[in-house]
Amino acid sequence: MQGHPSKLRVRPEVRAVRAGVIETRRDLHRRPELSWQEHRTQQVILARLRELGLADVRPIATTGATGLVEGRGNGPAVLWRADIDALPVPERSNLPFASENEGVMHACGHDAHIAIALGLAELLAKGSSELPGSVRFVFQPAEESSGGARACIADGVLDGPRIATVLGLHISADVPVGSINVAPGPFFASPTAIRIEITGRGGHAAAPHQSVDAVVVAAHVITALQTVVSRAVGPSETAVLTIGKVTAGFRGNVIAESAAMTGTIRTYSDRVRALMLQRMEEILAGVCAAFGATFELKHTTSCPPLVNDARVAAMVRAEGEEFFGAANIFAAPSMGADDMADFLQERPGCYFWLGARNEAKGIAGRHHDPGFVIDEDALELGLEFGLRLIERALADPPAR
Ligand code: NI
Repeated sequence: MQGHPSKLRVRPEVRAVRAGVIETRRDLHRRPELSWQEHRTQQVILARLRELGLADVRPIATTGATGLVEGRGNGPAVLWRADIDALPVPERSNLPFASENEGVMHACGHDAHIAIALGLAELLAKGSSELPGSVRFVFQPAEESSGGARACIADGVLDGPRIATVLGLHISADVPVGSINVAPGPFFASPTAIRIEITGRGGHAAAPHQSVDAVVVAAHVITALQTVVSRAVGPSETAVLTIGKVTAGFRGNVIAESAAMTGTIRTYSDRVRALMLQRMEEILAGVCAAFGATFELKHTTSCPPLVNDARVAAMVRAEGEEFFGAANIFAAPSMGADDMADFLQERPGCYFWLGARNEAKGIAGRHHDPGFVIDEDALELGLEFGLRLIERALADPPAR
């Protein structure tokens, strides 16, 4: 079967570091740390980068790290980004190297991202005299909260040397091992957190005519908000509006004075987000006025849409077809969010999913779930493929 992981041609140098990379991943998995608290993780990374002899090894973004593999000459530079934080999820994977940090888990695979990036640094450092340009590794904290990518950029990782191409991968528990998911253009959404507060007038449940029932108003609002995507956003656009939490009331025989709702908007463009927020305001104003309630709508956008550069994405796809086989390249953008988007706003580049699902081995987890698991065979495939991409990006960078 073409693309079957065991049949893929991984160079001997990659095979040679495979065991070490898996060991690194397991060590990190055992000791996950939350966003902005990646202190041990940072020390492990910095120590390893120094051991490998990288240049410009230093902490960035409070709990992140960077290092540079210097190629010969002043060729264009590539940035490889790996996020490093874990989630407040109690692990129930039954793995022998399960989390020893109670209530915290690498439930999104960022441990694998660190291990692959350190493996790439090791392989590239060994052959750095052959590289036409430099490769900067960025180990970014706080992808799961917010601000990690921007903090790295503020610490100057895009210059000195000037980065021409940004690359990175996310391990995937959905995509089968031996395949990737990549597409040009919008690939992850811009997430906007929303909070709505509706204020009515409380009272006795047996005297509703004296009150403005915030629960009833909230119910109408939630129903009407379903028309934002179905009736206001153009049918060829992509958008999501979800109300995930509603809180109201005190007890069954009291009419609720207020109701609070939180949710998320996901879009591929600022224009569609602005349209949706405007429509939400109008619906809230109309519905609340009809029932005699008032409202407040608050929203915060944590990162822009993640947009893959057409040329770099085509390069990743072409290289993917060669390595994994054409049948093993998926092109399915998602409405998830990842602040790799911030790097890709600054420089052309590409972010893609690396398959790590393997139903034959019973490895079929879900991201952010206590039972999240990956097939570690994906690590050496990520190494070989990452190496090919970096080599190709250095040889043939996008126009400045
Ligand atoms: Ni993630």
